Amino acid sequence: MTHIPHHIAIVMDGNGRWANRRFLPRVAGHKHGVDSLRRCVKACAERGVAVLTVFAFSSENWDRPADEVSGLMELLAMALTREVPQLQVDGVRLHFVGERAGLSDKVCAGLAQAEAATQGNTRLVLNVCFNYGGRWDIAQAAAKLASAGEPITQSSMDRAMALAHVPDPDLLIRTGDEQRISNFLLWQCAYSELFFSTRLWPEFDEAALDEAIAAYNQRERRFGKTSEQITAPAPGLKAA
Ligand code: FPP
Repeated sequence: MTHIPHHIAIVMDGNGRWANRRFLPRVAGHKHGVDSLRRCVKACAERGVAVLTVFAFSSENWDRPADEVSGLMELLAMALTREVPQLQVDGVRLHFVGERAGLSDKVCAGLAQAEAATQGNTRLVLNVCFNYGGRWDIAQAAAKLASAGEPITQSSMDRAMALAHVPDPDLLIRTGDEQRISNFLLWQCAYSELFFSTRLWPEFDEAALDEAIAAYNQRERRFGKTSEQITAPAPGLKAA
């Protein structure tokens, strides 16, 4: 029986190379990236994944050429208007995760509106990390606790992190044939299984998702324990 990960996180890498190979502007690659994301959301919901978290714009992406940054902002604004009706039909609840400072008032209002419109949906939680960085997340959580005079512990940090509303990712996928975390969920991926796909993000389809889930099913998640401890019958259960 295939075990479906509860929470999948994805670094959607390779849009730029996909466009370059076709002599298209990089923004065209990001547009196809949105199509791929739409397909992936649907496929995750169909397979029973409860949470999908994607890296759409990192704290470091501001350093890209100005036309690419503005293209990504426009794409986000467009996706908000175009995609929300279908997300409603599919029962997807949207959360935007990241620093709102630096985003225009119009974009911020759009994010808040999309979150409010989908807040009653329960089939799949879609976290879109936008203007997000793992180091920013750890620092903002520590600063929040410090300013409230709360002790900094692992559990208080868990509660203060930007993804406090969901459990940690079980599976982290990175597309684009690169093997890096790139400042994505640094705190939350402590025990996630990693899967690196050679496909560029616009080419990441249902079969590629199933390949990642199949690889996840081959892993033994030990969380620091031994293999024997993981496979031993639960206390109180008699061996057959
Ligand atoms: C990395 O590929 C991808 C990004 C920086 C943007 C990801 C965005 C999307 C998939 C579109 C969804 C976005 C919104 C706005 C909802 P890259 O450009 O670094 O690719 P490369 O490594 O081939 O250059």
